[in-house]
Amino acid sequence: MMRSLVLFALGLSKVAYAAVIDQELDEGIPDTGLDTGPWTAGQVPPIAQMITANDFQIAAKNSMRARDYAYFRTGVLDEITYINNLNIWKKIRLNGFSFSDVSDVNLATTILGYEFSAPFFFAPAASAGRAHPDAEASIIRAAGNAGILYVPSISSTLDIEEKAAAAVDGQIMFHQQYIWSNDTRLRDELARIEAGGFRALFLTVDNTGVVGVRSRYERFSNSGNSAHSSSFTIEALNHLRTLTDLPIVPKGLKTAHDIKLCAELGFPAVYLSNHGGRQVDGVPTAVEILLDLHLQYPEVFDQIEIYTDGGVRRGTHIMALLALGVRAVGMGRPPIFANVFGEAGVTRLINILRQEMITEMMNMGQADVNHWFGNTTFINTRQIELEYFGAPLSVPTSSTPFIHPSPPGGSGSASNVTAKRGTMYMAMD
Ligand SMILES: Cc1cc2nc3c(=O)[nH]c(=O)nc-3n(C[C@H](O)[C@H](O)[C@H](O)COP(=O)(O)O)c2cc1C
Repeated sequence: MMRSLVLFALGLSKVAYAAVIDQELDEGIPDTGLDTGPWTAGQVPPIAQMITANDFQIAAKNSMRARDYAYFRTGVLDEITYINNLNIWKKIRLNGFSFSDVSDVNLATTILGYEFSAPFFFAPAASAGRAHPDAEASIIRAAGNAGILYVPSISSTLDIEEKAAAAVDGQIMFHQQYIWSNDTRLRDELARIEAGGFRALFLTVDNTGVVGVRSRYERFSNSGNSAHSSSFTIEALNHLRTLTDLPIVPKGLKTAHDIKLCAELGFPAVYLSNHGGRQVDGVPTAVEILLDLHLQYPEVFDQIEIYTDGGVRRGTHIMALLALGVRAVGMGRPPIFANVFGEAGVTRLINILRQEMITEMMNMGQADVNHWFGNTTFINTRQIELEYFGAPLSVPTSSTPFIHPSPPGGSGSASNVTAKRGTMYMAMD
């Protein structure tokens, strides 16, 4: 940072071409020593300098048009939820255990029954073409070659058929959909998504009629009507289920109540998300809602799969969410920022995240990601519980190692999760 400022000051006496970006002050992300001083504004920096997921955001800020970067980066209103998403991890403590064999680490798992090489995925994010001419195609190829799930947005730069055609051999993708007020458009797109070979729908339900007031982006463009239905009731949801044979995963749930409701309505999975802090400012983070779900409806974790996202930038963030009972963890901004380097950038991002997970799992004494799901022995969320509920939710045993029985077929089982959770999360009177 200091060096960047000095270089910037020196540069002013000649031509101020160096891009000086303060990671902490400007973007609210940790300073890990990335030196932007020698970079040239308007150009992508050397990809070798991309060491963390956050570095790609700084590279994107340096190289993208200001309005396009603002579109990707913006949160809603004062960005309180956006910032809380990024900072919630500071309040979580992870318990690591020694004396275990971690010589063979496994990240592979299933999401909605399909096999993937890791429990993280790339979430729908509109307009990838703002970062790179290949648009979604580079994210598709990078994800496909790495065995990672990607769920492109219906508001992509490429159309549905172009995305399907970009898939690599054997690649499994889901597709996101909005509930358009125009029913003809909705039916047409659903048919095309099915025909394109996408295996499931993430149905976004937190963007009803209007997009959030995203002040940072409004400096470039007005927000307003989203063309999404503003009368999306349970009846409308049930009607929609008759329009497609694909499994539907409601995306954008932000209360324990709605998650429980969707479980009762028979959805195979739900997607807990505050849309990356882009819709309603002040709504809680995924961690807080997961804790509320543990408190109010713990049975839901055994009934359906839960996916979530929001501010996930490190392997340890993924691990914390898995320990809270999540099956798979999404990232919206990281892949679209990494895409300023095209496919090579997205591949590098995947490798960074995988390596962070493997390294941290080894150092924490757990070799199989399938033993993390709902394994609260690895996590201490007491600080958040005190802040959010005013009292701790769990009995003080979170540093007692859980001896995981051999799972059937090598993966974690729901009954193990129930046993652990039953002792870990006892509501206060
Ligand atoms: C630029 C941008 C566009 C997005 N577009 C969509 C979209 O079209 N559909 C959708 O369901 N979510 C969309 N999202 C939300 C993401 O799917 C995801 O929930 C969010 O980005 C997660 O937070 P993160 O960016 O901190 O990882 C978008 C997010 C961003 C940043």
